[in-house]
Amino acid sequence: MGIFACLLILCWGFLASKLVNGGLLSSHAAGPTFDVMTFGAVGDGKTDDTKAFMAAWKAACNQGTINPKVSVQQGKTYLVNQIQFEGPCRSPSITFEILGTIIAPPKAAWTSKNPDFWLSFYHINGLNVVGNGIGVVNGQGSYWWATATGDATGRPTAMRFGNCTTLQVSGLKHVNSPRNHVTLYYCKGVNIANIHINAPQTSPNTDGINTGHSTDIHIHDSIIETGDDCVAVSGGTSNVNITHVTCGPGHGISIGSLGQNGENDEVQGISVSSCTFKGTENGVRIKTWQGGSGFARNISFSDITLIAADNPIIIDQFYCNGKICQIAKASAVKVSDVTYTRIHGTTICRKNAAINLSCSSTVPCTNIILNNINITAVASYPTPFARCVNAQAKVNLTVPPLKC
Ligand SMILES: *[C@@H]1O[C@H](CO)[C@@H](O)[C@H](O)[C@H]1NC(C)=O
Ligand SMILES: *[C@@H]1O[C@H](CO)[C@@H](O)[C@H](O)[C@H]1NC(C)=O
Ligand SMILES: *[C@@H]1O[C@H](CO)[C@@H](O)[C@H](O)[C@H]1NC(C)=O
Ligand SMILES: *[C@@H]1O[C@H](CO)[C@@H](O)[C@H](O)[C@H]1NC(C)=O
Ligand SMILES: *[C@@H]1O[C@H](CO)[C@@H](O)[C@H](O)[C@H]1NC(C)=O
Ligand SMILES: *[C@@H]1O[C@H](CO)[C@@H](O)[C@H](O)[C@H]1NC(C)=O
Repeated sequence: MGIFACLLILCWGFLASKLVNGGLLSSHAAGPTFDVMTFGAVGDGKTDDTKAFMAAWKAACNQGTINPKVSVQQGKTYLVNQIQFEGPCRSPSITFEILGTIIAPPKAAWTSKNPDFWLSFYHINGLNVVGNGIGVVNGQGSYWWATATGDATGRPTAMRFGNCTTLQVSGLKHVNSPRNHVTLYYCKGVNIANIHINAPQTSPNTDGINTGHSTDIHIHDSIIETGDDCVAVSGGTSNVNITHVTCGPGHGISIGSLGQNGENDEVQGISVSSCTFKGTENGVRIKTWQGGSGFARNISFSDITLIAADNPIIIDQFYCNGKICQIAKASAVKVSDVTYTRIHGTTICRKNAAINLSCSSTVPCTNIILNNINITAVASYPTPFARCVNAQAKVNLTVPPLKC
């Protein structure tokens, strides 16, 4: 026995690994690859490739080996209809690599009447959606915006992640979603990095990233140009860090809206730091409806750069989305422990206050801290001013000055 048997065992180990990673599937260091082309995709931007995507997904998801990969190769455009990729998968992690362009059908070609989503990833653990800086996801939103009313329902979110744990989304360009570009709901442990979201300033309800009922989220090193919120942190979200994100055009970063239709919404542990707002309609905003309940607390905004941003700092407990609402109901979502530190730059506010803390008398805002803020006007715009109603605030070195 001895040396000879040992060599045999080593050799068998090597052969076995070759068989698992190789065979009919092209091999990849990280795991077997399932190219949508080998599952029948055409990639001419006209032929419907939905079935091929689903077949590649199912094959990868059913793989027991570590980190199988669905691969969407570079240099082709794949037309994909509404689709839901579902888990749980057999492997504890799975990669969806998009190096080409995935394009949605024009509105008239949708068979589903009031779709909520275009590409949905549901109930998947350890999903990595990666674009290596070249992949594109194009929702063809202009077909939807043309006939959009104020209401976003019935228009699809481009990419939706539901009920997920340990999700990574990176290196993709997200273009022209009919509605939100990326939505997270019931997710835990999310890393979104190096993405570029782009839709026109005038496109309705095209949030960059919208999170709800999710926790442990890091959004960083990304550029988000849209017609609506850059990032919207909705009810049930906690422990979110947003760092090195450049927003604009769009409506800035929003906590909320919360408490609509009397809902109980809870948001806490949100940190926005080292972010830039370029020509946005708002900067950092907390918006809650009258009549709701719950809280928005332990929120910090720090090291923010403003470049010609309108309405840089807002707490609005009377949010009403432009509609006529019954003002001042007895209940409201409680806003507390909010810190603004080192917020510098320029605004184009005219009639509005550059800092507007607008809280209700029944549920005032408490422990609001403003420290080291300097907001000045873009040349030829009026000198900024601040407004503070029903907020208990500690103010240090803040321009424009604020009396609460
Ligand atoms: C999420 O998945 C779990 C099982 O892992 C299930 O019990 C739960 O109902 C799902 N939640 C939602 C909101 O779908
Ligand atoms: C957010 O940052 C805080 C403070 O640096 C850290 O404790 C927390 O783990 C971070 N959370 C996420 C989800 O990155
Ligand atoms: C506040 O939120 C941060 C995450 O942004 C978290 O690390 C910290 O523990 C929270 N503090 C309290 C008192 O809840
Ligand atoms: C401040 O915000 C409140 C609530 O949205 C709004 O009604 C008010 O007009 C704003 N005031 C100024 C001066 O910006
Ligand atoms: C605020 O910023 C302006 C423009 O950069 C600068 O001239 C001014 O000195 C700053 N004020 C304070 C109090 O830092
Ligand atoms: C006020 O700001 C200055 C300069 O950043 C800082 O040194 C000081 O600690 C702050 N004071 C309070 C009470 O936060």
